[in-house]
Amino acid sequence: MLPKPEYIRTSVEVNLFFQRIMKEHLFLLEVNLQPAANPYIVRANELKRRFEHLLENTLHYSDKVVSERVISSKELVTPYTLRSEEVTSKLTGAGINTSITKRELALSGSSRFYGSELLLDAVNKINNGSYLLLQETLSFQKDLLTKALHCKVFMGLYPEMLEHDIREAGHYLKLLTDLLDFQLPRRTLCEDLNFWNNIMEEHARFIDGMLDPTEMLLKDTARASAQGFEKLLNACISGAEYAVYQSSLSATEEIKDFKLHTTEGLLTCKIKSIIPPLLADHVLREANHYLRLLDIQRA
Ligand SMILES: [Fe+2]
Ligand SMILES: [Fe+2]
Repeated sequence: MLPKPEYIRTSVEVNLFFQRIMKEHLFLLEVNLQPAANPYIVRANELKRRFEHLLENTLHYSDKVVSERVISSKELVTPYTLRSEEVTSKLTGAGINTSITKRELALSGSSRFYGSELLLDAVNKINNGSYLLLQETLSFQKDLLTKALHCKVFMGLYPEMLEHDIREAGHYLKLLTDLLDFQLPRRTLCEDLNFWNNIMEEHARFIDGMLDPTEMLLKDTARASAQGFEKLLNACISGAEYAVYQSSLSATEEIKDFKLHTTEGLLTCKIKSIIPPLLADHVLREANHYLRLLDIQRA
């Protein structure tokens, strides 16, 4: 059983990161489905709004609870998030609650924190609410993936990207399951390395595939990054963590810089692609999250 403050803080941090990730996956479905699939667009929008509502609720309890380390990692918001949302919402016509982002940018962290019973109860409700909404979201995404794979629905997203999002949702579900058991998420270093290296490899492949064919230099960089991560896929086995850890750290630093450069280039309209700026910022935050997990191991 976890000490109360640790349970509260970990819950808030996991939810702040993943509730945003989930609502952005739903936003991307909403804007990449076709009018013929209108019921799916409506459902994606509804689930997105419910995650936004939960995120607002989590934020209500987060100030001075979340650690400095999480804030400075820029996994919750980056300097590009707000602008990416404004541009992407304007270009797609789909709504994004940017007041959440403004509040997140103003969040303050704390190095010492003691939880109250009231806070414990509130966080417990957030974990439960997230768990239930996540299950609904996962079944929606799985249904959509099946339809897409059988050519019953057409999306402007790779089916592999939807599968990737489903894996991220499954990962979040496992973390919540542990938290609802009052346990710290039970992950070994190898499990994290193998999971996140796979995610990073796929990001590089998606970026390569969504850049305009004329963006040859950027596509070369994306492919080189994917190949680097490919060598690390499932390479971590117990007893041999150190070498994989070091290579993962440098490969992730590199892809983080590449994603940052891509987000800037998209926001200033200097890169030709079919990547919405918010998607570039989203994968940048996932790299920042992974870097923080790697950093914890170094400490
Ligand atoms: Fe994601
Ligand atoms: Fe991802």
